[in-house]
Amino acid sequence: MKETFTLAEMDQIAQSIRPKLANAPRVGIILGSGLGSLAEAVENQVRIPYPEIPDWPVSTVFGHQGQLVNGSLKDQPVLVMQGRVHYYEGYTMAQVALPIRVMQRLGIETLIVTNAAGAVNPAYEPGDLMLIQDHLNLIGMAGLTPLRGPNLDELGPRFPDMSQAYDRQLGAIALKAAQDSGIGMHSGVYCCLAGPSFETPADLRFLRSIGADTVGMSTVPEVTAARHGGTRILGISGISNKANLDGNTLTTHEEVLEAGKQIVPKLIAVINGVLSRI
Ligand code: HPA
Repeated sequence: MKETFTLAEMDQIAQSIRPKLANAPRVGIILGSGLGSLAEAVENQVRIPYPEIPDWPVSTVFGHQGQLVNGSLKDQPVLVMQGRVHYYEGYTMAQVALPIRVMQRLGIETLIVTNAAGAVNPAYEPGDLMLIQDHLNLIGMAGLTPLRGPNLDELGPRFPDMSQAYDRQLGAIALKAAQDSGIGMHSGVYCCLAGPSFETPADLRFLRSIGADTVGMSTVPEVTAARHGGTRILGISGISNKANLDGNTLTTHEEVLEAGKQIVPKLIAVINGVLSRI
């Protein structure tokens, strides 16, 4: 399996997918842990299992299905990733970002990225949604970024701006869509760590002190590649658990998946609301 990709290789993968699609998707959607059932809402579905796509990274984590779902949501042609991979699974950052690169080559202009996250902000409860207003790229500050290595100038600049990583207009539309559906949605900062161990109470106190509202193990590498290529981003965290600041409760993957069941209907309402407004 290739660990880095040239532009020609990305194009080849996009070419292998294109004939299987039922439409020309403009919006990509990435579904986080426990949120895969959202893809069932896609109309006139075409499904492409990840193992059928050359070099496509396949998730090894329970709770992540592995297929692309193409079709439409609210009359928008979409390409949904039902399952994503994480750095901790052993993939290189270029492999983690490959699906984003291929989506860009397929012509996707807007990416809706979701994740399951722990609440560092004590006001957040499991089952809540948070609009990702900005992120803390701790994993990137440690040197782990999909942009490491020769820059592919055809995709984007060597030093991409990240001052507005999350599109303000899309964020405002999402907040309005949530409000119109009677869904409360927080707005805050997502912090990405490498995982896979959950945080210690001291880690969490540190994250709170530097301004994190939610914490997780995904999203930021994908957003970095997406912004490098000029893709507009809407990011939403589904809160799966409260941070264990006092060290007296355990955090488990099971509770992350369980909270997903509460989060999915809200997320569908917000995403449908956004898609019908853009
Ligand atoms: N920490 C890190 N990642 C997570 C968490 C958490 O508490 N919950 C879901 N993903």
